[in-house]
Amino acid sequence: MDYFEFRNGEMYAEDVSVLRLAERHGTPLYVYSRATLERHFRAFDDALAGLEHMVCYAVKANSNLAVLQTLARLGAGFDIVSGGELQRVLKAGGRADRVVFSGVGKSEDEIRFALESGIYCFNVESEYELELIDVTARLMGKRASIALRVNPDVDAKTHPYISTGLKNNKFGVDIATAEQLYLRAARMSGIEILGIASHIGSQLLEVSPFLDALDRVLALVRRLADAGITMRHIDVGGGLGVRYHDEKPIAPADWAAAIKPKFEGLPVRVLTEPGRAIAGNAGILVTRVLGIKGGEDKRFAIVDAAMNDLIRPTLYQAWMDIVPVVQQGEGRETQTYDIVGPICETGDWIGKDRALAIATDDLLAVRTAGAYGFTMASNYNSRPRAAEVMVDGDAETLIRARETFDDLVRGETLLP
Ligand code: LLP
Repeated sequence: MDYFEFRNGEMYAEDVSVLRLAERHGTPLYVYSRATLERHFRAFDDALAGLEHMVCYAVKANSNLAVLQTLARLGAGFDIVSGGELQRVLKAGGRADRVVFSGVGKSEDEIRFALESGIYCFNVESEYELELIDVTARLMGKRASIALRVNPDVDAKTHPYISTGLKNNKFGVDIATAEQLYLRAARMSGIEILGIASHIGSQLLEVSPFLDALDRVLALVRRLADAGITMRHIDVGGGLGVRYHDEKPIAPADWAAAIKPKFEGLPVRVLTEPGRAIAGNAGILVTRVLGIKGGEDKRFAIVDAAMNDLIRPTLYQAWMDIVPVVQQGEGRETQTYDIVGPICETGDWIGKDRALAIATDDLLAVRTAGAYGFTMASNYNSRPRAAEVMVDGDAETLIRARETFDDLVRGETLLP
């Protein structure tokens, strides 16, 4: 559920007209709803009530400082994958002791920064990384709290680019050899074993892969307990899907109800790392139709947002709903359009074969663009990145100014 709805044929973000926002801030424009973000975070937090737990929002989904601040104020934890994300969390008022650090390629500098900041836990993805964290912590006179991110080898049944829990994916430690690595970790003086983690993929629409993965993780947890290594937490990862079109996503409450029985009698804290399910439906991308071209065979609506602003459609062949911000009445003919951007790539499209009644200058909203939208944006074709606005009831805040030419060339130097 989100707080973008139509009132008298015009789209509103909470109590603010999207048309007014576009007029004030220009397009392309990302618009987020604070109430939606909060609602989704609470859905996870409430769903896990009764278990000791921590909801660690996956920062990569949307890392705008105001988004992180909104969640930090609700007591969120954070799942980060870089030193930059850690800096963002801290700047936004997030607590370091609620941060888990995932990611397959942590650098020594990032590890040191995370240790200095006092993060809660490293989710370690390989043997060499474990050794690096051990050495780095010892040199700093510290002990690093860790979980091994195990790869449970289950099929998340999602797009291959966002499936992470199969043996042939680069992520995590093979679950078959993880026990040996835990035994090694237990002997490292720079390491304190805190828990175990897994994350099998993103945009999951079935609960069974979660349960399969958890069963495998819990079997390992029992073997480790027999070996004298006890887990204080189990991190079940993120990955819950959202509705882009007609998907039927699993509600956090149903997901939690399915996994909860597995934790019965286990004195562990449960961690989860949702990103998309919190931020996805909390955002839209507003774009203006620059012009229409083509004829009977093929019609294109050229819009001012492009693959540099929103890469999901072309990268994953992802369907994202596109709707007019103002529903025009009679007199508009519905035609089938490819919605494409100004970038010099055939792959620069936002939607294909969309039936829309539109004309030049109309505003369109790409729905469910709050996650992996702006965070995946680039400056390709020297396009300044879009502005971002957060709506809160009838108030709005520009939470990121549109980039300028100076932003584009910052750090570049002409030859002498
Ligand atoms: N935890 C870890 C270790 C992850 O790698 C991810 C996502 C998450 C949590 C959050 O997953 P979520 O709850 O958002 O599904 N750019 C792609 C999605 C990439 C996901 C990468 N990892 C997309 O736009 O579909």
